[in-house]
Amino acid sequence: MARKPPDTYIHSHLRGLRHSATVAISEHSHALIAEGRRIYRLGLGQSPFPVPAPVVEALRAHAAEKEYLPVRGLYELRRAIAHYTERKAGIDRTAEDVLVGPGAKPLAFLLQLVFRGDVIVPTPAWTSYAAQARVIGRPVRWLHTRPEDHFMITPEALAAALSEESTRPRLVHLSYPNNPTGATLKIDQLKALAAVAREHDALVLSDEIYAELHHKGKHVSIARYYPEGTIISTGLSKWCGAGGWRLGAFVFPERLRGLLDSMSAVASETFTGTSAPIQYAAVRAFEGGEVMERYLVNARRICSALGRWCARKLRGAGVECPQPIGAFYLFADFGPLRERLAERGIHSARDLSARLLSDVGVATLPGSDFGRPDAELTCRLAYVDFDGTKALEAVDVIPQEQPLDHTFLKRHCRPVVSAIEAIAGWIEAP
Ligand SMILES: Cc1ncc(COP(=O)(O)O)c(C=O)c1O
Repeated sequence: MARKPPDTYIHSHLRGLRHSATVAISEHSHALIAEGRRIYRLGLGQSPFPVPAPVVEALRAHAAEKEYLPVRGLYELRRAIAHYTERKAGIDRTAEDVLVGPGAKPLAFLLQLVFRGDVIVPTPAWTSYAAQARVIGRPVRWLHTRPEDHFMITPEALAAALSEESTRPRLVHLSYPNNPTGATLKIDQLKALAAVAREHDALVLSDEIYAELHHKGKHVSIARYYPEGTIISTGLSKWCGAGGWRLGAFVFPERLRGLLDSMSAVASETFTGTSAPIQYAAVRAFEGGEVMERYLVNARRICSALGRWCARKLRGAGVECPQPIGAFYLFADFGPLRERLAERGIHSARDLSARLLSDVGVATLPGSDFGRPDAELTCRLAYVDFDGTKALEAVDVIPQEQPLDHTFLKRHCRPVVSAIEAIAGWIEAP
């Protein structure tokens, strides 16, 4: 009997699904580096900073923990996350409101899996929201944002989308500080968005994985203004430098306990729970304290100074690039250089990222990976290619009120500075 073609074994909606864009760019960069090319890795959004010492010590102390832990997560950890949420977001939460998982990403997936209703995602958005929807086989309603709004969703646009006739529940994804733009929402915007969501009884998934990397340490959660309808997403990957540890958490309002229970039931039949030693160590991370605060203050100073320098340098070369307010991303719009780039055969976001890699040796991600039109010449640069351990040591001895200057950035964030200078040189080359 003739063998079936390999695709026959794959569901039709999953055929051709590739690795997540961020993972793929990282693998591609590694392959080019292995061939001997100098590649600046501004593709994958990985924290450059080490895991804070007290958290590593806690992991060491709990390395022998070997039991399966409760599916929802270690009680002490859920309690620590509830307290952390109370401290940071100013809302009441208990351990019962928390679901821990092996990263925020699988939790986002579980939520999309169990949620009955429409998912609304403002673009540009983190690559996995739409990819997860595709895996599950549900549509996503994109909400286009405008450069003049720093690509953040406005209350008016949300109101228009939610006013569309629908009997189904709605879930709006918000990410701030934002991946891929580094922009965030101001308090009056949060209040207005909260009012719109409440009016239409829409749920909000508030992805606050970069909250602690607000460059001024002034992140405010929408949960403060819409506590009854907001699910907060957090985790260790970004502000605690522990992406590879795989720990995330969702914090629910009490009235959405049913969603939590349902996600937890699916978790019990899939990943079962989160690594025990990592959960014990995470308790220390969410407890906070002086050492953690100092680490964060220093990380923010570096992200802020470097982001500001990179954005200014790119603007000087004719690229539209607002200064990031949080996280470690720049969303660069090469639109003003469209004619010059067209002469070089660059007509799309994908062309642009491909040529930045091949001509300049800088890995980036095209704006189209974040839901922007491919014809728009946007790309995300993750300014993380430097030794975060050394940079933190260096910044620690510089008085806090003293801004970090170009000399500091050149010495301690050299690959990023070189990458941005190379892009500017490439643009300006005849
Ligand atoms: C906006 C956003 N949300 C969630 C995640 C997933 O984080 P985790 O490593 O906890 O799965 C990421 C990771 O890149 C992210 O950028």
